[in-house]
Amino acid sequence: MYPLRRNRRLRFNHAVRSLVRETLISPNDFIVPLFVVEGSGVKEEIASMPDYYRYSLDLLEHEVKSLWEMGLKSVLLFVKVPDNLKDNKGTEAINKDGLMQQAIKTVKNAVPDMYVMTDVALDPYSSYGHDGIVKDQYVINDETCDVLAQMAVSHAAAGADMVAPSDMMDGRILYLREALEEEGYKNTGIMSYSAKYASAFYGPFRDALDSAPGFGDKKTYQMDPANRTEAIRETLMDIDEGADIVMVKPGLCYLDIVRDLKNEIEVPISVYQVSGEYSMLKAAAAQGWLDHDAVMMEQVTAIKRAGADLIASYFAKDVVRILS
Ligand code: PBG
Repeated sequence: MYPLRRNRRLRFNHAVRSLVRETLISPNDFIVPLFVVEGSGVKEEIASMPDYYRYSLDLLEHEVKSLWEMGLKSVLLFVKVPDNLKDNKGTEAINKDGLMQQAIKTVKNAVPDMYVMTDVALDPYSSYGHDGIVKDQYVINDETCDVLAQMAVSHAAAGADMVAPSDMMDGRILYLREALEEEGYKNTGIMSYSAKYASAFYGPFRDALDSAPGFGDKKTYQMDPANRTEAIRETLMDIDEGADIVMVKPGLCYLDIVRDLKNEIEVPISVYQVSGEYSMLKAAAAQGWLDHDAVMMEQVTAIKRAGADLIASYFAKDVVRILS
């Protein structure tokens, strides 16, 4: 009698494979990143992100309605700010009539039940392209946290459901939580980009927002890709400070971190499958070198299998198209 166990029995046909499948993908897993620009009637493709667009407010409205109809219930907003509104203080970031604040209202008006998350960091508003206030070529921590807290409050005031600080300053979750509580935004959540690495995969995103650092890089605040225990430490601190959801970013190269965290913590983990991951697959598929849909589904399944409860992904619409 050999072999005693034939594992291939459970792979014999589609039906049995479906029965034993451990990881299922659904529209509920996704957060859709959206890029917003000034103007009207604007839907412009991002050069390094084929098939991904920046929308002006009027067309944003249309886009979120269609996302909602597809079953996608959460968006993560980013804005592209014109150069003349950028400075080293985050003035535009906390403008109550700024593009982000208007975008939040636009989405909420179009689809009141859409769960609106917003990126909180100064880079799109910074004349230096850095996530915080720059002094002597260095991003200064505590002064930055003060502005980020004001920014979070202004997003909450505009109607954001959850703010997502992506800046990697020390202590910022506590700054944000305290400011939100003081202003009465008790139900405004915080999704912390807690294990955010200094990654070259963010390149296309910085094209999308015209937010590349004007000098140096982000290695004095984002994490070294070589480090693992640091990711645990960062994430545990953010949970202590009040983060409702934590995040690992980028996705595919960092799935070991996702699994480590999944084994360690008890808050939902989101994974950001970032712009470079999106563009790599689009480029290879355009050449005919990879099967776009098959590789995409394999990737999001791997992210979820590693331990992601939520996935922020530019592929969200493509995935839903495949699912239905
Ligand atoms: C801004 C921010 C970045 C991303 C999300 N928020 C870029 C950066 O830190 O330089 C990257 C997202 C992506 O690449 O898709 N702090």
